[in-house]
Amino acid sequence: MTLLRVDGLTKSFKGLRAVDDVSFEVAEGSILGVIGPNGAGKTTMFNLVAGALTPDAGTVHLNGTNITGQPPHRILTAGMARTFQLMRPFYSMSVLENVTVAVLAGGGARRSARTAAADLIERVGLGEWRDAASEGLPTAALKRLELARALASRPRVLLLDEVLAGLVPAEREPVMDLLDELRNQDGVTLVFVEHIMAAVMRLSDSVLVLDLGRVLTTGAPREVTRDPRVVEAYLGEEPSAQG
Ligand SMILES: Nc1ncnc2c1ncn2[C@@H]1O[C@H](COP(=O)(O)OP(=O)(O)O)[C@@H](O)[C@H]1O
Ligand SMILES: [Mg+2]
Repeated sequence: MTLLRVDGLTKSFKGLRAVDDVSFEVAEGSILGVIGPNGAGKTTMFNLVAGALTPDAGTVHLNGTNITGQPPHRILTAGMARTFQLMRPFYSMSVLENVTVAVLAGGGARRSARTAAADLIERVGLGEWRDAASEGLPTAALKRLELARALASRPRVLLLDEVLAGLVPAEREPVMDLLDELRNQDGVTLVFVEHIMAAVMRLSDSVLVLDLGRVLTTGAPREVTRDPRVVEAYLGEEPSAQG
């Protein structure tokens, strides 16, 4: 069953078509990897899908309901959460406070919010940082905090914008295991933007390639990464670039 359907999504910034007629579908319980060089429009596409930006044209349907142009909190309530490439927790709050706020924002009950938050913190492997100030957390911990906050609303669809960027390989493994587990055990549908190809190959059921705002190709990970057009789009890119 198609859980997320994007049709003809388009957005320009002062004449630049950052996202240009992008369409794709994501089946419930599947993982779609989104790749493309810096500036391809990946983050803008997430912003359009999650309601942070309003598209110039096109539609987004979640579970058959048209959610195009809805504000982010409505989309969250409808079952779709996202992480930000540039993380933005409340830096004045502790890790536990941040996740508690996210549980409440996601419609969680006040009485159980702290317990739910503490459970999530354990689940993403942030236990030792639970009562630490969010300010000054190492990148790997901030990424996990971002993930815990996104999971706090118990989403059916989770959009992940470069959650592995800036992590050393040993830090990536447990995050990839968690994403696998979210899909396999919790049935969460994942759409993830990622530059780290090993993660794209391991996790994705299918891959969408964006270039210059448009869909260059889509298909099975192995086919897509062998496509000469994809290789060409990446020429000159830093393999570990964070765009
Ligand atoms: N708020 C904005 N205002 C103007 N231009 C933007 C804005 N956001 C993104 N862009 C431009 O849109 C293009 C796509 O950016 P982005 O979606 O961040 O790409 P990616 O995430 O694939 O690296 C880039 O050329 C970028 O400079
Ligand atoms: Mg980006």
